Amino acid sequence: MTISPSTTPALVFGGSRGMGAAIVRRLAADGRPVTFTYAQAHERAAALVLEIEQAGGAALAIAADSADSDAIKTAVETAAARFGTLGALVVNAGVLKNGTIDQFSLEDFDEMVAVNVRGVFAAIHYAAPHLLDGARIVTIGSNTADHVGGPGSSVYAMTKAAVAQLVRAASRDFAPRAITINNVQPGPIETDMTADLMDFIRPRLPLGRIGRPDEIAGLVSWLTGPDAGYMTGASLTIDGGWTA
Ligand SMILES: NC(=O)c1ccc[n+]([C@@H]2O[C@H](COP(=O)([O-])OP(=O)(O)OC[C@H]3O[C@@H](n4cnc5c(N)ncnc54)[C@H](OP(=O)(O)O)[C@@H]3O)[C@@H](O)[C@H]2O)c1
Repeated sequence: MTISPSTTPALVFGGSRGMGAAIVRRLAADGRPVTFTYAQAHERAAALVLEIEQAGGAALAIAADSADSDAIKTAVETAAARFGTLGALVVNAGVLKNGTIDQFSLEDFDEMVAVNVRGVFAAIHYAAPHLLDGARIVTIGSNTADHVGGPGSSVYAMTKAAVAQLVRAASRDFAPRAITINNVQPGPIETDMTADLMDFIRPRLPLGRIGRPDEIAGLVSWLTGPDAGYMTGASLTIDGGWTA
């Protein structure tokens, strides 16, 4: 039988800052116990756990580099041991490095692929046996999977296009368990990652403003909630009209 996933435990990869932190806050406000990973931001992660606990929720932060598949596996097992079988998995951790093909180093290429592609696969792979039937998986891709605004984005765009297709095809694997998997493709959102780019982007955005992390969290909340059970394999672009 398909379970109602709305208050079951959630695991968010990359939840200490930016969109990930907004997603953690929103899923906790939805009533879910939330485990989240981070790479380095110990203090921000601890502060977020405290904030959620003071609001009456339950949260756990785990340091786990998404480039390290053993760390991902341990994070999944720790989350399941603490709060029980997972009802929602959100894979948000990602890195952005720009550079034209001639300038982009192979070391940076490997790091981008390790976190943005291999890390996403590893998170889904290791979480799969810990997911309830009827659970929800959401990845955070990028609108650059469909359209880039200028030179220097090729490797980042490639990683996000890979995520979109991984999700599309994986939906067939998860369907027999009524588990949905969808990919959110944000456009420019105000976070640390894009702080340097905003003066360039803002005047080019049809809606005339940069998106807020909580607007992405709202879409993730819907995708992980009871009304989204018939959507799977989709990539949903939310970008203020940037790619329109
Ligand atoms: N901001 C945008 O405009 C935009 C647009 C489209 C797509 N995206 C995508 O949205 C996602 C979140 O972006 P953001 O702007 O919120 O980024 P951000 O502000 O840089 O935050 C990134 C989050 O991911 C974590 N993280 C980064 N590398 C990690 C690693 N190797 N292992 C584990 N955790 C890691 C960070 O942890 P620490 O705090 O410990 O570093 C942090 O919690 C990314 O996948 C990004 O590609 C962003």
